[in-house]
Amino acid sequence: MKRVTVINGPNLNLLGTREPEKYGNETLDEINGRIQAEASRLEAECQFFQSNSEGELVSAIQRAGVVGGIILNAGAYTHYSIAIRDAIAAVPSPVVEVHISNVHAREEFRRVSVIAPVCAGVIAGFGSYGYILALYALLGRGRHE
Ligand code: DQA
Repeated sequence: MKRVTVINGPNLNLLGTREPEKYGNETLDEINGRIQAEASRLEAECQFFQSNSEGELVSAIQRAGVVGGIILNAGAYTHYSIAIRDAIAAVPSPVVEVHISNVHAREEFRRVSVIAPVCAGVIAGFGSYGYILALYALLGRGRHE
């Protein structure tokens, strides 16, 4: 059975009430429930982790990155965390970068991702469906090299 870990970064615990015009009305629990249902249908095992702290996200990537693929929405850390980039580069598993909003259609600073070069691919702008697309991407391919 394939294993996938879904990791969400800062402020994504507030989904549902946080700027719904940009991030939608679903809560993180609701989104995770939909990912879980799709993963079960595809016979994959899914785990979920959220933290507002950079170091906890680094540790979660280190743990998950040796057991299976990672779906990562690093939130604002996407744009400047070299520690998270280095964690992704350090693990053998593929990581798919996800953003709910289209970061390229927003402020200039959101167009920069310091993690994208070490990720298998990037999905942005499709709302919470991006997490499902990332699941398909991971299950359809084993590794990024
Ligand atoms: C986000 C986009 C980031 O720029 C922002 O800081 C977030 C959410 C998204 O899912 O669209 O926290 O990653």
